Amino acid sequence: MSGFAERLRPLFPALDQQVHGQELVYFDNAATTQRPDSVIAAISHFYAHDNANVHRAVHTLSARSTEAYEGARDRIARYLNAASRQEIVFTRGTTEGINLVAQSWLRPRLKAGDEILISGLEHHSNIVPWQLAINGSGARIRVIPVLDDGSLDMVAYRELLSERTRLVAVGYASNAIGTRNPVDSIIAQAHAAGARVLIDGAQAMAHHRVDMQAMGADFFAFSAHKMYGPTGFGVLYAPAARLDEAQPWQGGGDMIETVSFEGSTWNELPYKFEAGTPNIAGAIGTGAAIDFLAGLDFDQLSAHEQSLLTLATEQLQAIPGLRMIGTAPDKAAIVSFVMQGAHPQDIGTLLDENGIAVRTGHHCAMPLMERFGVPGTVRASFAAYNTVAEIERMGQCLHRIAKLFA
Ligand code: ALA
Repeated sequence: MSGFAERLRPLFPALDQQVHGQELVYFDNAATTQRPDSVIAAISHFYAHDNANVHRAVHTLSARSTEAYEGARDRIARYLNAASRQEIVFTRGTTEGINLVAQSWLRPRLKAGDEILISGLEHHSNIVPWQLAINGSGARIRVIPVLDDGSLDMVAYRELLSERTRLVAVGYASNAIGTRNPVDSIIAQAHAAGARVLIDGAQAMAHHRVDMQAMGADFFAFSAHKMYGPTGFGVLYAPAARLDEAQPWQGGGDMIETVSFEGSTWNELPYKFEAGTPNIAGAIGTGAAIDFLAGLDFDQLSAHEQSLLTLATEQLQAIPGLRMIGTAPDKAAIVSFVMQGAHPQDIGTLLDENGIAVRTGHHCAMPLMERFGVPGTVRASFAAYNTVAEIERMGQCLHRIAKLFA
């Protein structure tokens, strides 16, 4: 799919720079993507022209600010094919979305004996919130095992599902090793067992055209900064019926209908979950990122990213002493590996000296690292703007690095 990335690259100013005297190769997209000019301009325009608080005043700037902020919600709802804009809750990111579900929806309805099913692939943000929520309830967390290639053990999943399963919470794709989970089948089986499902969509949005009504998850959380938008902003999608079941998340301005010293009543959806002055510029920047995504041809994107993944996998497998972690048949464009005799951090530092940005360490997935018997890995994660030439540069560089540790 030559030319796909090349057409996008000029839109991303941060890609056009040298690091340690070499053209930057940015392969840390699973941690955060770069932003196109349109997102930067939308945020800058808001602060330069329209900056005012939302929902609170009759003056012109506040009206403009509110229109831009709520307009972003409308665009996000349409893009996701949510049934209504009320189902789009603005958060600080995936982590906050999951914590919101854990504390406001799950915790009040837990009984002793209930089970929360997560998977061995999960990021800490899809493990720890459930540990906090079940504390003292007599409920327990059960884990879908990971097979040797990094896929989920779907036979074990079927066996773990039962009438005790209150919620299944899994990632769309593993940030650490790239496995893409069969979310349609996971959701269908959970619903057949009477359980609700949360999908951690952090690694989904930049790579897949998702449709909330078609997917049918009860909760879907994502972060803007992993899909070309700003940091500190995210969305929790849930059907209105689920959000109606949930208690308020944080108390404060905007989330209430009435307040007295005797008690308070709650605003309508989604504002019941949005206390305090929100990240207005974050919403506006995310609206621009959604517009950018809406302009992409996802068939071409998917073919492009899969060709990068195939090439990177071939190149890595040819390097002596290199072990790939995660070789599932269905993978997002992420490669994770260790090299005999070398600490992942040393490889990351040597790659950086060559202008190549990767992430090293446990990738906020310590149990998964333990499953594969490694303290951490080197991870290269690709995005729409990465090129074949960049993958080849990493391959050549890793061949040189491998010789240092041979
Ligand atoms: N979750 C992010 C990553 O995978 C930070 O790097």
